[in-house]
Amino acid sequence: MNQIFNGFYKKTPQERLEILHKLGWSNIRLDLSDETGLEEVQSIDDIQLPNLVADQMIENYVFNYQLPLGVAVNFIVNDIPYSVPMVVEEPSVIAAASNGAKKVGNIKAKMLKRETIGQIILPNVEKPMLIQEIINSNEQELMKIAKAASENMVKRGGGPRKIWTQTFEGDSGAFVTTYISFDPCEAMGANALNTVLENVAPRIATLTEHEPLMSILSNYATEAIVTARCEIPIISLDKDAMLAEEIAHNIALASEYAQIDPYRATTHNKGIMNGIDAVLIATGNDWRAVEAGVHAYASRSGVYRGLSKWKIDHSTNELVGEIELPLQLATVGGTISVHPTAQWALDLLHQPTANELAEIVASVGLAQNFAAIRALVTEGIQKGHMALQARSLALQVGADLTEVDEVVKKLRESGIMNSTKAKEILSLLRGK
Ligand code: HMG
Repeated sequence: MNQIFNGFYKKTPQERLEILHKLGWSNIRLDLSDETGLEEVQSIDDIQLPNLVADQMIENYVFNYQLPLGVAVNFIVNDIPYSVPMVVEEPSVIAAASNGAKKVGNIKAKMLKRETIGQIILPNVEKPMLIQEIINSNEQELMKIAKAASENMVKRGGGPRKIWTQTFEGDSGAFVTTYISFDPCEAMGANALNTVLENVAPRIATLTEHEPLMSILSNYATEAIVTARCEIPIISLDKDAMLAEEIAHNIALASEYAQIDPYRATTHNKGIMNGIDAVLIATGNDWRAVEAGVHAYASRSGVYRGLSKWKIDHSTNELVGEIELPLQLATVGGTISVHPTAQWALDLLHQPTANELAEIVASVGLAQNFAAIRALVTEGIQKGHMALQARSLALQVGADLTEVDEVVKKLRESGIMNSTKAKEILSLLRGK
């Protein structure tokens, strides 16, 4: 399978789409002239977001903002091959994801559980123990109200799962919070859970004689944890066995360091989120929610740490990578169902369940992280990154499409990647 994607990046967008179409992963054809009508094909225009739909999605809509969508190749997650749709403005991210996926091989990923958590917060509580006790002893009744407020979700097999309470001491006094965990099935569940919370809150107010400050879901998705793991034979890291050992050793050191220095951990995790956010945007998921939850999770020990770990397994001579993070994703509802490009992106991923999507996304984060650290501990990031940045630089200084390739070539030859050099090269090219 992987061989089909060798040199995918050297092809034209049309050829790339043809490959995806031939694999049956995408129904887009650029040239519809030879279609028999026996299969359902679409043109790129068919999957653009219509203005009328966009106008319903947000407020004060004026027009669509465009970002490039690319496809990261070489992914195998739980033995299934994928080409992963990614929307991102930064050069080298998709190249790195494809590169990482090719080198890490099959990634075993598992969504451990998938529930959203909501909070009903009571402020200024003088007797927090007593209030907790009142709420806890009425759990069954509160659960009944919660289920009644999410009848459709309950019918689908989801809905409220658990209710519990906790006290927090603040400057103004104690807060007592009621937590409700909720299985949103294939949706993200924000609206459904918020409805549940707002239905349960008045009963809590009556029972406790305290007015809730607010009722809202939490994006700290600790009940929606995904893990992904890959095992890379160290020998495959370089043709030179000694160098391969050194690369593995340095990747493990880089991982160790990302566990102890928040300055490094933040950049380490930014590299992971390069890939994750790009897939979330492509599939119409709420990347702000995921970003907030992921960074809170990275700090769960009290210190902000890297989300992934790389270790050498001396018994198998493998470099083992693991990532663990909260991913509350959806494959239906909200933007996803109405955005035709998001639907195409999910088609490309073989219409995954929400669990499968989270497993793919965690795997992208792991492969992306591998590519970045590998580059960092070997040739440095600038070589690969800036080589790909050259095209952006050329366009940035005003090169037109007939000039871009030449400016890129000369930039690479010069070894200097900045806009002054790009401007100088363009001027020379234009004989100025
Ligand atoms: P390379 O070693 O020259 O790649 O990598 P290769 O020639 O061995 O090719 C291997 C595979 O990579 C290819 O397979 C492609 O799939 C892919 P093939 O098609 O040959 O069978 N690939 C490409 N895909 C698309 N366009 C390309 C391309 N080149 C290779 N032009 C590469 C070159 C840039 C991929 C490598 O140096 C790399 O992975 N660098 C990491 C770049 C990166 O992480 N960029 C993100 C931005 S930097 C950042 O924001 C995060 C960071 O700060 C995080 C952190 O600190 O941890 C770094």
